[in-house]
Amino acid sequence: MYQIRDLESYTEMLTVRELQQQIWGFDDSSLGLYPPVLKTAATNGGVVLGAFDEQSGQMIGFLFSFIGREKSGLFKLCSQNMGVLPEWRRYGVAEALKQEQRRRTIAQNLPLITWTYDPLEGPNANLNLHKLRAISRTYIEDYYGSDFGALNAGLPSDRLLVEWWVSGPRQEREKAPDYQAVSPIFTVTGQGVEKEISHADFDLTADIIELESVPDIHPIKSANMELALDWRLKIRQAFATYFAKGHIAVDFISTVTNGERRNCYILQKSTPELLTEIGIE
Ligand SMILES: CC(C)(COP(=O)(O)OP(=O)(O)OC[C@H]1O[C@@H](n2cnc3c(N)ncnc32)[C@H](O)[C@@H]1OP(=O)(O)O)[C@@H](O)C(=O)NCCC(=O)NCCS
Repeated sequence: MYQIRDLESYTEMLTVRELQQQIWGFDDSSLGLYPPVLKTAATNGGVVLGAFDEQSGQMIGFLFSFIGREKSGLFKLCSQNMGVLPEWRRYGVAEALKQEQRRRTIAQNLPLITWTYDPLEGPNANLNLHKLRAISRTYIEDYYGSDFGALNAGLPSDRLLVEWWVSGPRQEREKAPDYQAVSPIFTVTGQGVEKEISHADFDLTADIIELESVPDIHPIKSANMELALDWRLKIRQAFATYFAKGHIAVDFISTVTNGERRNCYILQKSTPELLTEIGIE
């Protein structure tokens, strides 16, 4: 149905920019990735991939990443953007792009890929922390400032920093752990776009904690911006509090019951065993 391959030509880099403008809803055509930078990254160890419709040959998704360095000096891959056209979502294109990126990273002997995403975006959380088994232990408030495209409009651009330790033992694990008996930070009431946090407990001491997130932030933003902001600020406070206590976001569980989606982050207290299982160097 689709095929993934390295992007090399300048024309392909121009197409990436067009795709990005479409997906992120930039209304100014001068905004977006600068094609020469994509070309330079691709020829200097970066990973720049495209997903193509096998029938039409049209580019339907892309991923852009370049070589970077941790403050510790560790070399890694920095993933800057990945996008899939709306009509091609839910076919696993994003996961396939990321797995290809992981294979390229391992082949270059790099242990780590990092990127950021909005913690209120359910599909991204599901992909990053559940399907790919990456983790996060860093929350960044208003990373880009307020002037950052239509997808982001209206809320501070908070981000979680994702760490994907590509050769960690957890990548080979057969099945996900069972997180049944977890302590919830939030009590959430209401349904659909009226779902709200009615109580928050920032004094939990359990090793495994559940942080409930919005089912889908976009309809909430359209219906009630004040409520969307309340989710943003309470989730910000929850991550900041429990990351400071040494918890790590290790999973994201999304379930749908009677048409109602429930999205939950799983935070686990950091131990030497957990760090080894993740593969953190
Ligand atoms: C994020 C993005 C790349 C994902 O693309 P995709 O090809 O649909 O991803 P996948 O199909 O691999 O995974 C999406 C998963 O999220 C799930 N999902 C959909 N809506 C969800 C929600 N509201 N909450 C939680 N999970 C949700 C899907 O069910 C799917 O899981 P499944 O395969 O188990 O059903 C795509 O949505 C996109 O381009 N978004 C806009 C740009 C962006 O945010 N880019 C990433 C940051 S740079």
